[in-house]
Amino acid sequence: MNQGGRPTILVTGASGLLGFSLQREFEGDSRLLMPDLDVFDILRRRETEEWIADHRPDLVIHCAAYTAVDKAEEEPAAAFALNRDGTAAVVAGANLCGAPVVYISSDYVFDGRKGTPYTEDDPPAPQGVYAASKFAGEEVVRGLTADHLVVRTAWIFGPGRPNFVLAMARRAEAGTPVRVVDDQTGSPTYTPHLARGIRRLWKAGARGTFHVVNSGRASWFDLTRETYRLAGADPRLVSTQSTAELGRPAPRPAFSVLDNGRYSRATGATLPDWREGLADYFSLRDSW
Ligand SMILES: NC(=O)c1ccc[n+]([C@@H]2O[C@H](COP(=O)([O-])OP(=O)(O)OC[C@H]3O[C@@H](n4cnc5c(N)ncnc54)[C@H](OP(=O)(O)O)[C@@H]3O)[C@@H](O)[C@H]2O)c1
Repeated sequence: MNQGGRPTILVTGASGLLGFSLQREFEGDSRLLMPDLDVFDILRRRETEEWIADHRPDLVIHCAAYTAVDKAEEEPAAAFALNRDGTAAVVAGANLCGAPVVYISSDYVFDGRKGTPYTEDDPPAPQGVYAASKFAGEEVVRGLTADHLVVRTAWIFGPGRPNFVLAMARRAEAGTPVRVVDDQTGSPTYTPHLARGIRRLWKAGARGTFHVVNSGRASWFDLTRETYRLAGADPRLVSTQSTAELGRPAPRPAFSVLDNGRYSRATGATLPDWREGLADYFSLRDSW
């Protein structure tokens, strides 16, 4: 802890979608380190470890990842290099200066067959390459340090970076009809709410694995219909499609709603319903 008690926090992948909201959440009372790829490339293990050890953060929030779910099926080595081996480099650097690590993981570690919300005690069974690489990253974190939070989240949207909701909102504004899958159900999550949840876990001194998602559940179809409604477009422009019809290369869980109970017990807080997050995102519409 330095500079008048302001903690120094390293956010890896700070230029990404979640990174944007983490910056907003922590910048008021922390010194943020958000290095660019040209000085901080987690594929370069030794430099990554040295950079972290030299800058001595009090906390590392590790968001940098290979996130192209479908492309990962064609390039598994690249996905594992970033999500497993890159994570190992980040944790090794954090260990050199005794910093706890928050690793951001995914609902896709589950196979989607359970049918009721997944708790942290449910066994992961990742289906695609991206999912397997994210789970491998989790295992690396657990193996290298007890001083960790593995935060599983899902279907994120929010300000600062293109995302699914923004893409649908643009189509709504143009009055374009869309077909969207209605046979995948999950936990859409608003990045400012997620960033607040991560802060709460850290402040509570929690360690271990936590599911942090907005309350409620939705299919991609539900999420898109609500997006069209808020955009002032006719929700009947949104029609359904099956996952099989869409034919994406990577498998996705049919049901990956996450249970937030452990998070609530640790922090005394609950995350708002995803519709509240969506409405808040629309309140920022002028800055999109
Ligand atoms: N998106 C979702 O719906 C979702 C759902 C569940 C979990 N997650 C997880 O949440 C985390 C954040 O996701 P996101 O959507 O915010 O990701 P994102 O927008 O795709 O951002 C990924 C970040 O990683 C950085 N990065 C890529 N290669 C790197 C390297 N070699 N070294 C250092 N940084 C590198 C990128 O930098 P550049 O911008 O310079 O390329 C970018 O800042 C990820 O761990 C993801 O797996 C996401």
